Amino acid sequence: CLVLVLIGALCSFIYIFCTTVSYPNHNKNGRKLPPGPRSLPLIGNLHMLGKLPHQNLHHLAKRYGPIMSLRLGSIPTIVVSSPQAAQLFLKTHDLVFAGRPKIQASEFMSYGSKGMAFTPYGSYWRTVRKWCTFHLLSTSKVEYFAPTRKACLGSLVETVKEAAAAGEMVDLSGKISEFMEDITCKIVFGRVKDDGLNFGYIVDKVMHLLGLFNISDFMPYLAPLDIQGIARKLRRWSKLMDMVLEKIIDEHVQTIDPEGRKPHRDFVDVMVSMLNQPMNHQDEDQPYIVERENIKAIILDIMPASSETTTVSIVWAFSEILRHPRVMVRLQQELETVVGRNRFVEESDLPKLKYLDMVLKESLRLHPVAPFLVPHESMEDVVVNGYFIPNKSRILVNTWSMGRNPNIWSENAEEFLPERFMDGKIDLRGHHFELIPFGSGRRGCPGMQLALVTMRLVLSQLIHCFDWELPDGMLPHELDMTEIFGLSLPRANHLRAKPTYRLLE
Ligand code: HEM
Repeated sequence: CLVLVLIGALCSFIYIFCTTVSYPNHNKNGRKLPPGPRSLPLIGNLHMLGKLPHQNLHHLAKRYGPIMSLRLGSIPTIVVSSPQAAQLFLKTHDLVFAGRPKIQASEFMSYGSKGMAFTPYGSYWRTVRKWCTFHLLSTSKVEYFAPTRKACLGSLVETVKEAAAAGEMVDLSGKISEFMEDITCKIVFGRVKDDGLNFGYIVDKVMHLLGLFNISDFMPYLAPLDIQGIARKLRRWSKLMDMVLEKIIDEHVQTIDPEGRKPHRDFVDVMVSMLNQPMNHQDEDQPYIVERENIKAIILDIMPASSETTTVSIVWAFSEILRHPRVMVRLQQELETVVGRNRFVEESDLPKLKYLDMVLKESLRLHPVAPFLVPHESMEDVVVNGYFIPNKSRILVNTWSMGRNPNIWSENAEEFLPERFMDGKIDLRGHHFELIPFGSGRRGCPGMQLALVTMRLVLSQLIHCFDWELPDGMLPHELDMTEIFGLSLPRANHLRAKPTYRLLE
């Protein structure tokens, strides 16, 4: 009897092994898949991802090529690692790959896919994206919030000035993160982060959960077991978050001017003024009415999409500038020429700061905050470059890998060299696939303009107003640049430096 059980177990194991270990080049119908490493039963290739998966996949792509296929848990995954391949997925076949995978966190945070970032491609997503771009993220809206940016940045400079007067070190990561959270809260709902609502605390908790590796996203059949307890925690925190969001909307509803004569104070004001009205033209097939859940889902999309990404990008750029004193000197020279030393930088100065622009591009090349963009998902079977890509494959575009490829950026690809953008031929709008930190195509970042103004302003102001020294006599090249992978790709350690005020009073 025991022998029979053992034989049965062995046969089952052989069966599972043979049916789940994929032979890299063909699927079960014999169609040619992109090359990739063999996968193991159940876990697929998950064991090949370490703490920095973008780096692991970068190395694997050197072996298997720029279109590589893997299986992460039960999810067929395609890793794209060259500009030519990215163009195929994000431009040539943009529509097929405009889907987003369903992840567990989005079930709790997007009120049944009523936001934008994790909403499946379709008529609702198109409507909400158009609506947000027009009412919240257009050029005129970005300009409208210039006074808010000026006021918040003024407070940041004052705090740093106090530290400079006291000869103290500044935790730049901490200060920039606080600044970004405050300014995002001001723009989105007109309050600073910790203005009695505990919003900041709750957002931080949720962000932490969103950044965790969630096994249910790779083995959805295990989701009901909630092995890591993530769903339970998400449920709890999203309920608390909902209460705060309801309160924010109530406050806005009470103060709204039904005649629309008062200028809007913030994004929620804009959205609340359209409550119960159609989001799209009434002549379109399916009208979508603005309801509270739409507003809450959009707030929950925009808060993390805006604050964390911009903070991390500014801190990386600052780190690179501190590591390269020559770049700091050139930036300060440019600022002296354009702004002079008697006043602060104004937003109207930004278009003249050409070297600053090159520095930002170079930093985003080496430190994309979303190293795989936001994962895309194929919406039907398709053949790309001769390879069969099955419906519902997850697409990871490894922008980190593309930013460090010597075939694109020459032998000095790993060096921080802003001058490589001197000719101004490459921009960030997603047309030059070698540099796509904001993505490209239908799903590209709609907040890019807001992000770039904020990044340029904060960096230029802090570099214009202060000279900076690294702690404990640390030499520039000794500055630790270790990354940590999570919701985004920030520094592993906080960036600290000592300021000296340098403007003429
Ligand atoms: C999507 C980058 C700032 C809102 C994305 C994507 C990337 C990205 C890579 C995914 C693109 C794709 O999947 O192809 C960044 C970076 C930022 C930044 C690097 C700052 C340096 C912002 C800001 C906002 C914003 C300030 C809004 C206020 C969004 C939204 C999406 C998105 C809503 C989802 C779009 C969709 O799925 O249709 N961003 N972003 N982002 N971003 Fe940003």
